[in-house]
Amino acid sequence: MLWMIDNQIVPEEEARISPNDLGMLRGLSAFEYMRSYNRSVFHLHTHIDRLINTCRSIDIKLPFSKEELVEMVHRLNNAFDSDDCGIKFIITGGPSKNQFSYEGKPRVLLTINRCPVYPAKIYQSGAIAESVVYERYLPTAKTCDYMLGVLEMGRRQVDEVLYITPSGSILEGSRSNFFAVKAGTLFTSETGVLGGVTRKFVLELAHELDIPVKFEAPCVENDFDEAFITSTIKEIMPIVKIDNKPVGNGLVGGLTKRLRQLFLKKVEALKSTPEAILS
Ligand SMILES: Cc1ncc(COP(=O)(O)O)c(C=O)c1O
Repeated sequence: MLWMIDNQIVPEEEARISPNDLGMLRGLSAFEYMRSYNRSVFHLHTHIDRLINTCRSIDIKLPFSKEELVEMVHRLNNAFDSDDCGIKFIITGGPSKNQFSYEGKPRVLLTINRCPVYPAKIYQSGAIAESVVYERYLPTAKTCDYMLGVLEMGRRQVDEVLYITPSGSILEGSRSNFFAVKAGTLFTSETGVLGGVTRKFVLELAHELDIPVKFEAPCVENDFDEAFITSTIKEIMPIVKIDNKPVGNGLVGGLTKRLRQLFLKKVEALKSTPEAILS
């Protein structure tokens, strides 16, 4: 694991923030999580744009330009000895004398590690999810407020917790976007969700495969034929059970498989043309 703080690579024991940091004391913090395939960072610019937008929505003015943030990722990635990495920016509100007021001194942490890998079995047999009524504060922002997700995932023996509205519309997962398939059409919520980088890519793949898409939040009570979640690390992960009820016939769906195959094919192609993956 390597760390960079405010654009300086530091040993892990020196990667420290103040105990008066508003990120820790008051939850004023944002992050971005990216991954590399074969050393190329997947949709790096889209991730950095989302980080900048998140910071804007919580009134944090980043002390670095987009170009500098991109450069930091390249520098840390080059310094780390692994081909497939998880790369995380964490932006904290910075120190505050009265432990409440933002003083305009955010800290910029960047860390790199080997990319976590889910077991192949979960893609073959599908994952299990449960729903919980919850709508994230500032859903389009990637803030560090994951308290409900951490608690609910800790309490349940499931692969993902799905956030639903009081009327049962599925918004997203605790760390993923959600898609359902009904009669050959993809359904996914457009509002109340994080604009996932993987979600965006999957929508492009659906277009390429001529799969119709409806931007409607699927209702947890409805019988869909298939379901899957998307995220940087999970990529496209089938969901075969929600709230103890099988999705469709309880097996990984055909449309989910087609999308996943195309996803993996694109990743393979992008690995050998790093310029494309860096856009
Ligand atoms: C709440 C939430 N929604 C969706 C996603 C998926 O986003 P991405 O595909 O950019 O990883 C994440 C990722 O962590 C998330 O935390």
